[in-house]
This record gives sequence, C-alpha cells and structure tokens, in this order.
Amino acid sequence: MKRKIVSIIGTGVIGAGWAARFLAKGYVVKAYDPNKESLEKLKKNIQTAFKSLKKLGLNKNASLKNLNVFTNLNDALHETTFVQENAPESERIKKNILKTIDNIIPKKVIIASSSSGLLPSKIQSACKFPERVLIGHPFNPVYLLPLVEIVAGKKTSHTNVKKLKKLYEHIGMRPLIVQKEIEGYISDRLQEALWREALHIINDGVASTEEVDDAIVYGPGLRWAFMGVCLTFHLAGGETGMKHMLEQFGPALKLPWTKLKAPELTNKLKKAMVSGTKKQAGKFNIQELEEQRDLFLIEIMKTLNKNQKEKFPNWGRKYNNFK
Ligand SMILES: NC(=O)c1ccc[n+]([C@@H]2O[C@H](COP(=O)([O-])OP(=O)(O)OC[C@H]3O[C@@H](n4cnc5c(N)ncnc54)[C@H](O)[C@@H]3O)[C@@H](O)[C@H]2O)c1
Repeated sequence: MKRKIVSIIGTGVIGAGWAARFLAKGYVVKAYDPNKESLEKLKKNIQTAFKSLKKLGLNKNASLKNLNVFTNLNDALHETTFVQENAPESERIKKNILKTIDNIIPKKVIIASSSSGLLPSKIQSACKFPERVLIGHPFNPVYLLPLVEIVAGKKTSHTNVKKLKKLYEHIGMRPLIVQKEIEGYISDRLQEALWREALHIINDGVASTEEVDDAIVYGPGLRWAFMGVCLTFHLAGGETGMKHMLEQFGPALKLPWTKLKAPELTNKLKKAMVSGTKKQAGKFNIQELEEQRDLFLIEIMKTLNKNQKEKFPNWGRKYNNFK
C-alpha cells in the first residue's frame, strides 16, 4: 500500500519534532529547509527523538528511511497530502511561504502553520485558497507532547478544521480547537503570563532563575501534569470547592500579586537569565538535557495514561500516544 506523504516546511526545533512524530506513525516525510545545515541537524535530531519514540512503540511502517530532505520547495511538496509549516515566527515570512506553498499544491491539501501566536487571518490573507490554511500550534518536544492548538482564520473552512483535528488525533495528539481567533491562542497566553511574572521576580531581585524554577517544579508543576489551573483551584476550596475558593481568594484579586506587563529586557536582566540558566544546566549540554527531559516526560505520561485508562475512563483527556 502506498504510504501517505506529508511535507514539513522549515526543519528547526519544531519542524524536526513534527518530522519525528510523523515518521514514528509510519508516514513518508518530505522535509524542506532553505538552510542545508538545518537539514543536516534534522537527521541528527530525529535520531535522538527516535530513542524516546521507540520507548513508546513505533508504528510497524515507521522507518528513518521514510525521511527525504530537500532545499527545493517544489520537490518537498511533490505528491504531498498535508503541509506543516515551521518557518521562523515572523508574519512577513509566514505570509510569503504560505502564499508560495498555496500556489504550488492542489487546493484540497491542508496547510497548517506551527505559529506560536500569529493570527491565522493575517497569515492566510495572501493565499488563493485561504480556506485550507490554519494554525496547528504544537509544544516542544512535538514528538512526545500530545497538545496541539488548532486556530482557524476568518476564511478557514469548518470542514478543514475537522479534517485537521482527525489527522492530529491519528498521530497520537490531543487537538484543542481554539473557539475564537486570538493572538497567543490559549496555552501560550497562560505560559506567557507565568514567563513575564518570572522575569519581574528576577528583575526585582526576589529570586534566582533556579529558585523561580523550583517554585514550579516542586509544587504547582507536579499538579499541572495532571490537572489544569481551574480544577486545581476547585480542590483548593475544600468541600465546597470553587465556590469557597472564590469567596476566600476573591479579594486577593485586587492585591498587587502580579505584574502582567513584561519588564524592560535590559542587559542586566538578560545577563541574569543567561548566567542563571547556564548555572542550572551545570555540566549538561542541551542534547543531554533534552534526553533527560524526554525520560521524565515518558514516565509522567505513562503514569497519566495508566490512571486515565484505569480510573478515569471518561476523563476526556485521552490521547493515543502509547501503543
Ligand atoms: N521553539 C518552540 O518551543 C516552539 C513551540 C511551538 C511553536 N513554535 C513555532 O514554530 C515555528 C518554528 O520555530 P522553531 O523554534 O522551530 O524555529 P527554529 O529557528 O529552530 O527553526 C526555523 C527554521 O526555519 C528555517 N527557515 C528560515 N526561513 C525559512 C523559509 N522562508 N521557509 C522555510 N523555512 C525557513 C530555518 O532555516 C530554520 O531551520 C515558529 O513559528 C515558532 O513560533 C516554536
């Protein structure tokens, strides 16, 4: 049987993650990057990802031989059935590359962009067939984390939203359809709030980068692996749940407990961030840290999967990452 071809456009951190996920699920991947060096790194990154993916179980057709790399866009789009674009986060670059792709491939083929926060209506605006252009925003490492946010632009068709959801489910993901087009979508808005607050805490000399990280890793982060912020706070309210939580902590919403606007990114703050995280990384380089992160994620995901299947069959957060 002929295996499905997907095109991965831009093969940096995120493009490599998508390529690894599709390969692990038995697809043929045609990857394009204008930079030869990125394509060389891609092969190495996919080999690293496969070490983790093997632990989850590969599709019977999965093979690194199904990876084809190109510096010519037309070649990477030949006979494709789906395009995932991962070019740098710039409205100008995305608009141009989407327009070029839209001109090359048949109008039925869906084009998803991995953008972290750009509005799909803007980046689809130069396309002849904008109804097949939308956001599919994943999370790093894409080959392990199930979440992907789908955001439609004004001209995206509902049918294509449904088709994309089905495709992502087929490759073991948990698609979340964002109901209203908004910059930053859902998850990045939440992460961004935490990130800006962390920068303020460091900028104001309240804590080091390591202490800020410990404040999440040993506390809320452990809960967040299982429950989101809303359900967690429902439990914080004791027997009457969220009702009591709101009564007790409602007034605190008026206290100066957060400064959501980002601080000025001064050289002093940049230095504190870079030297702080370098110290935290210690003797480990990025690749070694990524491998450790993957091992932790797999253990946590196995635990979640087991609990969801055995104890919460109707939990509604099921995904099919494990064989
Ligand atoms: N890094 C993350 O954690 C993360 C998470 C989710 C989404 N994203 C989004 O994914 C996209 C890619 O981010 P990344 O972190 O992989 O960036 P990256 O810098 O690692 O990779 C970008 C790649 O795009 C290539 N490129 C440059 N111009 C191009 C063009 N015109 N057409 C195609 N490719 C081109 C570069 O050579 C490079 O290999 C961005 O939109 C980003 O916002 C990133």
